[in-house]
Amino acid sequence: MLNLISNPINFYNQYDLTIQSPASGISLKGSLAIPGDKSVSHRALMFGALAQGETRIQGLLLGEDVISTANCLRSLGIQISDLTAETVLVQGEGLEQLQEPLDVLDAGNSGTTMRLILGILSAQSNRFFTITGDRSLRSRPMSRVIKPLTEMGAEIWGRNNNNLAPLAIKGQKLKPIHYFSPVASAQVKSCLLLTGLMTAGKTTVTEPALSRDHSERMLKAFGADITTDSETNSVTITGGNTLQGQSVIVPGDISSAAFWLVAASIIPDSELILTNVGINPTRIGILDVLGKMGANITIENQKIVAGEPIADLRVRYSPLQGCEIAGELTVRSIDEIPIIVVAAALAQGTTIIKDAAELRVKECDRLSVMATQLSRMGAKIIEHPDGLEIQGGHPLSGTEVSSYDDHRIAMSLTIAALQASATTLIKDATAANISYPNFFDSLQQVCHL
Ligand code: S3P
Repeated sequence: MLNLISNPINFYNQYDLTIQSPASGISLKGSLAIPGDKSVSHRALMFGALAQGETRIQGLLLGEDVISTANCLRSLGIQISDLTAETVLVQGEGLEQLQEPLDVLDAGNSGTTMRLILGILSAQSNRFFTITGDRSLRSRPMSRVIKPLTEMGAEIWGRNNNNLAPLAIKGQKLKPIHYFSPVASAQVKSCLLLTGLMTAGKTTVTEPALSRDHSERMLKAFGADITTDSETNSVTITGGNTLQGQSVIVPGDISSAAFWLVAASIIPDSELILTNVGINPTRIGILDVLGKMGANITIENQKIVAGEPIADLRVRYSPLQGCEIAGELTVRSIDEIPIIVVAAALAQGTTIIKDAAELRVKECDRLSVMATQLSRMGAKIIEHPDGLEIQGGHPLSGTEVSSYDDHRIAMSLTIAALQASATTLIKDATAANISYPNFFDSLQQVCHL
């Protein structure tokens, strides 16, 4: 039995975390069940709400973003059972049966909640809705969905020339379009597929690179008339087909597993097994990036569960080298770039990340925040408009850094702090609860001297 170290990881107050580098270093050992996939969890709740009959969800992520989706749907008249239960039940009301809420819907910090729900609300004829979010979400661009929705006939108003929340929506009968999205975004694609589901005729979305395809897979399983064309990265939905409630098993979130994949790769003598992780091809850019960097990761016990491929991932320490990440590889690893920056800072040689300007409009400007916060710890990072150049191999030392209230930054800086000398204070580390409620407990569990 390995010993838990004399606690180098401590909450300094309700929000901030200190990580003290132990004199003899740590290693990570053991097995972790990765919490449910955030993207799949949002969709299971929303599609369940629009289906006829009951949807049973196992493994739903209990992160704050998913709770925001459940709260919005409840305000729209959908019955959803206790989210902490092993199986969560959603009583679907059908495609256009949502109630007009008495108050403003609150999407919290969640871009997926706001953008996908806008697609649903726009098509609820003769009802009026308002939606807002936290400070971060109120500064994120919504015109990327409002523009095509408006082309379909939707009526949506917001600040900054109908771009920023709070937003007001007057539900309408809409007309189908073929939308050529300028960004590869699963939120844009899914928003329009949801609107297309409730609009007579064929709605098509074509994207410049294939974004995550959970909506396509799950809508098909719920009975939607949906076809994909992999040559042109297009998906077409024919409106009007009712959805039928389903049993959904949510795989572990590879974006959450990514923190452990990098942590065990960079901390000598580590070995972790991460169980039941979703390995949907549109999501495994992190495995390809770490493969290029020389990581030692094996994929075990592969199977298909409820339409999504899953596996156990075994990761062992291995010295990493820098690499280049660009194009569709950036799209497939977009949420993992913050933790990839940590891997790159501790790798030998230079890592170049390109085509990642989308990171500037996430929960914070992730390019700028990762560059400034890791540089404070001693990393050498040059910021470019659409990416970063990281000169690896410079030792990190602890100091005060901030998550900027962004869950993925909080967890990335925590992993960096495990390899830093002295003590790191991470302000607002509890932002991790947005996507990984027990992250710090799991860290304690696998951290050994
Ligand atoms: C998501 C899509 C991605 C991703 C986000 C979740 C989804 O955003 O970054 O964390 O569930 O559809 P974009 O659609 O903006 O690329």
